[in-house]
Amino acid sequence: MCGIVGYVGGRDAVALILDGLRRLEYRGYDSAGVAVVSGGSLQRRRAAGKLERLAASLADEPLDGDWGIGHTRWATHGQPTEENAHPHQDCTGRIVVVHNGIIENHLELKARLAAAGHRFVTQTDTEVLAHLIESEYEGSLEQAAARALPMVRGVYALVLLHRDEPQTLVAARMGPPLVVGLSDGERFVASDVPALLHHTRDFLFLEDGDVATVRPDRVEVRTLAGATVTRSPQHVAWDAVQAEKGGYRHFMLKEIHEQPRSVRDTLAGRFSLEDGEVLLEELGPAAAGLLEASRIVLLACGTSWHAALVGKFLIEELAGLPAEVDYGSEFRYRTPLVGPGTVVVAISQSGETADTLAAFREAKSRGALPVAICNVRGSMLTREAEGSLLTHAGPEIGVASTKAFTAQLVALALLALHLGRLRGRLSPEKCRAHLSELTRIPHLMEQALHREDAIESLAGSLTRATDYLYLGRGVNYPIALEGALKLKEISYAHAEGYPAGEMKHGPIALVDDTLPVVALCPDGGVYEKMLSNVQEVKARGGRVIAVASSEGGELGALLQGSDDMILTVPSCAELWSPFLTVLPLQMLAYHVALRAGRDVDQPRNLAKSVTVE
Ligand code: AGP
Repeated sequence: MCGIVGYVGGRDAVALILDGLRRLEYRGYDSAGVAVVSGGSLQRRRAAGKLERLAASLADEPLDGDWGIGHTRWATHGQPTEENAHPHQDCTGRIVVVHNGIIENHLELKARLAAAGHRFVTQTDTEVLAHLIESEYEGSLEQAAARALPMVRGVYALVLLHRDEPQTLVAARMGPPLVVGLSDGERFVASDVPALLHHTRDFLFLEDGDVATVRPDRVEVRTLAGATVTRSPQHVAWDAVQAEKGGYRHFMLKEIHEQPRSVRDTLAGRFSLEDGEVLLEELGPAAAGLLEASRIVLLACGTSWHAALVGKFLIEELAGLPAEVDYGSEFRYRTPLVGPGTVVVAISQSGETADTLAAFREAKSRGALPVAICNVRGSMLTREAEGSLLTHAGPEIGVASTKAFTAQLVALALLALHLGRLRGRLSPEKCRAHLSELTRIPHLMEQALHREDAIESLAGSLTRATDYLYLGRGVNYPIALEGALKLKEISYAHAEGYPAGEMKHGPIALVDDTLPVVALCPDGGVYEKMLSNVQEVKARGGRVIAVASSEGGELGALLQGSDDMILTVPSCAELWSPFLTVLPLQMLAYHVALRAGRDVDQPRNLAKSVTVE
């Protein structure tokens, strides 16, 4: 949940590191710092607050350096102050370190090092790393790291440098991601690919236990035990422009509008309309295991958990297979009844969410077949899965997940259809019919996105609302949850998603004229039931914002109130309606947050990838 950038080569290290940190700021942004070396002189600058504070300080008093490291922080131990900002240094000031993760035994190590005379100046767990490396340093930073890191318990992605070992970085990974960017005559280290796309598309993805020594012309990777390992370069097709805002005011808005393309891209090449088949050869060895599946367990967190809830619906409907959904953070604190015959599908945009990874490993250890649905090639989750179904949403920078979510729905739809065919529940004809409806979705999404103006003006009428209720049924119940999460996480208003049928069991007590109720009423089998829920709200003086396939009919007659509104989305097969009903909710969250003056791409207290439990 922090951003790390390292650079070795001959160019302006401060400018390059700051540029990389800017592209990682979504990972954490409560303080930042750099440490660079030029001609044997190591200089460090840190600042509390957002990265622009550090950039301003460096503009006022520039630092010279042709290699170095930098960090943007999401505090776990110690307040987000300048003193606690990374990079941290040892007693000599010659060793500096930046770190993402948690050193669980930092107090024990700190006590031992302090007893040996080391002087600590911060409350952070990371500073312990600098002193631990110092205590093991005998002239080789790489060897010092190899001796010190086995003493560390916890998770880390870290980059070290020693002033007297020019143009050399030591990078180590145990948990959170770390990539090495390869470019002519220079090398980069970063937490995530988007930080470096301006410089290269060729990367080494470090694995847990890797210790990489990075120099401008080569990278040597060893295990903690010292054995040399080979990490083959991978070419990332994303281009730097994709990772930029593309003229939109915020990454989130750009990503909302990219969804027709990312849905198309995630569908592309994975089905044959002619044969009525889904083509998932990429699942590799896992494909055979799907045939014997007796049940599916879907694991995820946050928005990805909402995708899992839709996935349950699709898998049970299309494949006739029992599907359960579990929070990554809860799964392993029960006695999960999984084993051979269970296919566990972990869904994650980043592929680095600690809760999801931990649950995935637990299920795997109990004999379940591990399959990943993920947006980041080479991420931890994809490397631990037997088979991965990658979403092709491209880099998602906004902390609030949008295009990754609908891309996850595509992957789940394809998996459900594939299972339905494998199990003989779906004929090729039936599968073809579902697929042809699915291929219409991107075009219908484009139509739905054209209605943003109406939503922008609706947001203007909600400036005084502090609490919201989102209602949905069936396959759109998860979309009610997702709409509520989008709103609360970027506007900071309280919003709650509920199965509409539950209204009468309690939540209806909330209804009055101050509580906007967002009701998902697309055409389909539960439309009439949703009408009843809307009537219940109107009968109690409530305000309704409905998402529906048309403005007329009974719903139109019901919503005659001056502050009622119907947001229309094109009609489609009910099974695929979540692709459309989620769009107005994403745009509503965006515009409400904008009017509230919130930092839409980097909402308070959050980070894009939650790599700690
Ligand atoms: C979604 O808008 C949130 N940013 C958050 O809930 C996110 O979905 C969750 O942390 C899971 O992340 P992942 O998909 O990368 O695993």
